[in-house]
Amino acid sequence: MQNYVRIAGTGSYLPEKILTNFDLEKMVETSDEWIRTRTGIAQRHIAAKDEATSDMGAVAATNALEMAGMTPEDIDLIIVATITPDVPFPNTGCYIQKKIGAKNATAFSVEAACSGFVFASDVAVSMLDGKRYKRALVVGAEKMSSIVDWEDRSTCVLFGDAAGAMILEAVENEEENSYIGAQLGTDGNFSDILYVPGGGSRMPLDEIALNEKLNCLRMSGQEVFKQAVNTMSRVSVDLLGQTGIDFDQVRWLVPHQANIRIINAIRKKLRLPEERCYVNVDRIGNSSAATIPVAIDEIVRNGDIQKGDLLLTVAFGGGLTWGSSILRWTKD
Ligand code: ACO
Repeated sequence: MQNYVRIAGTGSYLPEKILTNFDLEKMVETSDEWIRTRTGIAQRHIAAKDEATSDMGAVAATNALEMAGMTPEDIDLIIVATITPDVPFPNTGCYIQKKIGAKNATAFSVEAACSGFVFASDVAVSMLDGKRYKRALVVGAEKMSSIVDWEDRSTCVLFGDAAGAMILEAVENEEENSYIGAQLGTDGNFSDILYVPGGGSRMPLDEIALNEKLNCLRMSGQEVFKQAVNTMSRVSVDLLGQTGIDFDQVRWLVPHQANIRIINAIRKKLRLPEERCYVNVDRIGNSSAATIPVAIDEIVRNGDIQKGDLLLTVAFGGGLTWGSSILRWTKD
């Protein structure tokens, strides 16, 4: 019998501290007006100094488990999407496993930058399909504030910290199926338009590297902008074509929340009305792999989705990486 996968629960977490554009005005030469006009961002959440990615991921996971009506022991697979792991190893999934007490799970991380959650979900679905695993916890969690250069106004205004989670469960009944399809892609030729130069085997962090802030994110903003709009539009159209689903059938476009101008450009290319495109970048900023699961959790908890509704997710990030998925909400 064929296996299907249903979304059993979602959860999210935003750190308590809020950093507004006005706060940033006191840190770098910028203005609320510039940031709002160019990015649509008004504020972002910033994790506490002693709050790591797994701490945020564990809270989001606990919320998702609660919605699913499951205990941590029910989970047999944990996949975490992050580019800001607690430490180089053990993987952040192991820390989340320990924190929530998911002692029956196998945990690992996936590194695909802002597309990470779409990648991690697709990996989870493939593993659930093999019948060896029954219930997966997929987390997108990032402490972007830990890799941002707080003196670089061209990047520090864009990012925030957050975590989102989703429980995926293998089911046999097609009516419960939530995972309609996905498309992923990468292009390493553009690896230098969005990256962190140091901290890996290429450039371990010695004193010189730290002085040059090679542990911080670098970005060619305009090139990223162009690639993001073209790629995200293309991959969503391709996926809809591949699955035979029409735009009119999609209740929510859930785009990666990087910049309102990128989101609007994609929405216009796809000719999707504003009210069917989910936006929270104004409140949360760009939290990389966390943006999509946080957005989905907000939609669900706000009651803005009904049984049978389709969500079209689309993401783009450093790598380059990109991905799109079509999800169906099948809970009552
Ligand atoms: N405040 C004030 N001025 C600024 C700031 C700031 N925070 N940042 C840059 N500027 C200045 C620049 O120095 C430049 O000044 P100059 O003309 O005197 O040289 C001027 O503003 C224009 O700079 P540009 O880089 O051309 O501005 P642009 O309109 O391209 O906007 C931005 C920059 C917002 C980064 C844009 O390129 C963008 O959104 N790119 C996409 C990047 C992105 O979203 N990355 C996230 C990661 S990837 C992803 O998640 C998809």
